[in-house]
Amino acid sequence: MRRIAMISLIGFTGAGKSSLGRVLAMRYGFLLWDLDHMIERKENMSIAEIFAEKGESYFREVEGNILKNIVSQGFSNSVLVTGGGAVLREQSRALLISRSFVIHLHADFKVIVQRLLHDKSRPLLQGGDMESTLAQLHAKREHAYEFAHLTVDSRDLEEAAAKIVGGWYEFNRRSQILI
Ligand code: S3P
Repeated sequence: MRRIAMISLIGFTGAGKSSLGRVLAMRYGFLLWDLDHMIERKENMSIAEIFAEKGESYFREVEGNILKNIVSQGFSNSVLVTGGGAVLREQSRALLISRSFVIHLHADFKVIVQRLLHDKSRPLLQGGDMESTLAQLHAKREHAYEFAHLTVDSRDLEEAAAKIVGGWYEFNRRSQILI
């Protein structure tokens, strides 16, 4: 088995993936790729504008393609932050698990609701009662992140980052023993 050079962060919207990505980049020097930012740059529009003008399936197409490009290249010592729906495609899950050390960032539903209550940037949550929209999405995606190699809790991002780096070394060490 070869060494896995990339870490990817998956998890429900509002779990804190972008913040954790920044901690990993600043504390441990990882190169940071933020999928949503890359989509916005490529399309020259915000995520909300892409959903409104081109629709969700167009967004998923672009998201899947950019994910595939980054993960296939397997950049060294890098962290890929994904959007909450990026793992809905089987092809993306398969790529992530075979080419990166996949981390599921878990946050309590109550914490997510508190964080997103006044958020206007997430198109899937707009219109209607935010808490029930979130609850429906949460129920639908409950098992979507279970394929990860490791799950960490979002309460303490410094602690989560340290666990990830330790887990990543251990994962690669074990892979080498198995050669
Ligand atoms: C989405 C989550 C968002 C963003 C887009 C769709 C989703 O990212 O990719 O609005 O389907 O859950 P976050 O997980 O950073 O909110």
